[in-house]
Amino acid sequence: MGYLSKDTDPRMREIIGSLVKHLHDFARETNLTHDEWRAGIAFLEGCAAVESEDRHEFVLASDVLGLSSLVDMLHSSSDATSSSVLGPFHVSGAPPLPFGGDMKRHYGGPVLLAEGVIRDTDGNPISGAELDIWQTAPNGMYASQDEEQDTYSFHGLMTTGDDGKYAFTTVKPVEYTVPSDGPVGDILRACGRHPWRPSHLHYIVKAPGYRSLVTEIFPDDDPYLDQDTVFGVRDDLVMTYVERPVSEFPDGIELSGKITEPFLHVKFDVKLAKV
Ligand code: BEZ
Ligand code: FE
Repeated sequence: MGYLSKDTDPRMREIIGSLVKHLHDFARETNLTHDEWRAGIAFLEGCAAVESEDRHEFVLASDVLGLSSLVDMLHSSSDATSSSVLGPFHVSGAPPLPFGGDMKRHYGGPVLLAEGVIRDTDGNPISGAELDIWQTAPNGMYASQDEEQDTYSFHGLMTTGDDGKYAFTTVKPVEYTVPSDGPVGDILRACGRHPWRPSHLHYIVKAPGYRSLVTEIFPDDDPYLDQDTVFGVRDDLVMTYVERPVSEFPDGIELSGKITEPFLHVKFDVKLAKV
């Protein structure tokens, strides 16, 4: 092939070779016109124009075209918990959240108690696993999108003890829209698609000797569960959020303010594969 030198790295050769082959097939198959080619280039330039530290339009393009999820699925361990999209709103350096800690703080909305065990694929609890948690505030915005929130609002970092358990309280996450005021929004509209994601909690779970897992948990009654605009939903990540009376709120779990109304409870165990 004329566009690859003899000493090109073999993997680079495979990837660029395949990319060019499929790009050419795509142009032939669609009989791509000059105007359409120009529109494609304008889309890429538009993505570059809105890119910033807080806005990752190319990643978003990959997300809504299903490429991010496909790459996730290709490299997910079959006997571990499924991985799912990272998204652009994770902030590293979240403050430690103790076992049973409160991410809800002064925010209103339905109280959710989330708990579970981090295990290996044989079912043994993993001690010292690190669980990085983040979600939207009740207004549907992540801390990094919202000047009203502090940097780490609805972010927390929990470390498991010998029993591998984690637990925290929060506000039930809400469904929200991915940014649709840029070129990716134009694609969604052109395709008659909406920008909604079902509500979810994000987790990154890490433990020495295990493959790190980026995942999400979804409630089974969410209206957007089967139409996530970034294709992040996997069967084993869909959980029932059970409503429980105030009398069943467990001891040892923090909540700012008194619990006066029934709360939601989700149990989600995470399985990590060995490296
Ligand atoms: C998110 O879940 O935070 C997200 C994922 C992909 C694109 C936009 C947001
Ligand atoms: Fe999200």
